[in-house]
Amino acid sequence: MRAAIVNQLGRPPHLGERPDPVERPGHTLVRVTAAALNPVDLHIAAGSHPAGAPTVPFVPGVEGAGTVVSGGSLPAGTRVRVAVPGGLVDGTLAELVSVPDGACLPLPPGLDDDLAAAVGVVGVSALLALRTEAGLRPGESVLVLGATGGLGQALVHTARALGAGRVAAAGRDPHRLGALGAAADTVLVLDPDSADADPGRLAAQVSAIGGPVDVVVDLLWGPHARLAQAALRPGGRWVNLGQTAGGRAELDAAVLRHGHLRLRGFSAAALPPEQVAAGYRETAALAASGALPLAVTTRPLAEVAEAWAAQAASPGAKLVLRP
Ligand SMILES: NC(=O)c1ccc[n+]([C@@H]2O[C@H](COP(=O)([O-])OP(=O)(O)OC[C@H]3O[C@@H](n4cnc5c(N)ncnc54)[C@H](OP(=O)(O)O)[C@@H]3O)[C@@H](O)[C@H]2O)c1
Repeated sequence: MRAAIVNQLGRPPHLGERPDPVERPGHTLVRVTAAALNPVDLHIAAGSHPAGAPTVPFVPGVEGAGTVVSGGSLPAGTRVRVAVPGGLVDGTLAELVSVPDGACLPLPPGLDDDLAAAVGVVGVSALLALRTEAGLRPGESVLVLGATGGLGQALVHTARALGAGRVAAAGRDPHRLGALGAAADTVLVLDPDSADADPGRLAAQVSAIGGPVDVVVDLLWGPHARLAQAALRPGGRWVNLGQTAGGRAELDAAVLRHGHLRLRGFSAAALPPEQVAAGYRETAALAASGALPLAVTTRPLAEVAEAWAAQAASPGAKLVLRP
């Protein structure tokens, strides 16, 4: 089969030939029609993921959509979403992939393959981070810190779908923030020189548009965490999902203590498969209803090296490769 192959950890994949996956008990063989890229693919293929490094040659890709070929309980031809738990075995950037039966879920009608592939990791993470980790209740206010990427967009739209009363979207790119449209009540352009920025500026901006928020969902960390900390109301919840602006943050102990703030971390990688499956069913229904209109850019699998470079540079859209 044709596949995107990493021959050396840390080097981008290139299109080549790999043996077809063999049929195995407990596994479903799927013909891939759309495979989404995620930042985690680049970490795994660089050998820098905490879960470990794959053995090369290796086919990246932790999620996609396609049709059942054989195995499992679903009839051949069923349209499905597939996940590759752990991501350290051959994945979805190929014509065929073999996944555990429980990681192969039928798609609802009305959801096209590209969006079905794109909404998986980011949609499930957004849903569970907001509802389970942050405990978001209808009517509460949310600040998405880093709202312009795939996960940030999913968080903005999912917060709206869960009934958030006010959604503020913060990011460094005003055009990408503007593309969120009515899903965000307010957009806040982050200072690119955040390390030197006035610590009260972001909190003052948030206060001016309805007061401090109940929940911050944060993909940035780094210097932005210090600036956004004061935007939480007393008793507010902060959930960190990423660190695209840096792995270390300087937080204010007095604000944390006197505000009774609750800091949490969330990683979709730690979720049990059944929770991922339930989360995806809900996410797919949202997407099929039009409530998760993520920006999606599709390319042929032959352009995997270019797509890889675009993902590393923050594409502002979910990148989907079609084998
Ligand atoms: N915890 C979880 O379960 C989970 C699940 C999925 C993803 N993640 C993590 O969440 C993060 C975002 O994922 P994604 O899929 O949205 O990636 P993405 O589509 O590549 O988006 C990257 C986001 O980070 C912003 N960004 C990058 N570098 C920045 C910097 N130096 N300062 C400020 N903003 C910066 C980008 O802003 P611009 O648009 O301005 O470039 C964009 O909003 C990644 O770290 C990813 O590993 C975590």
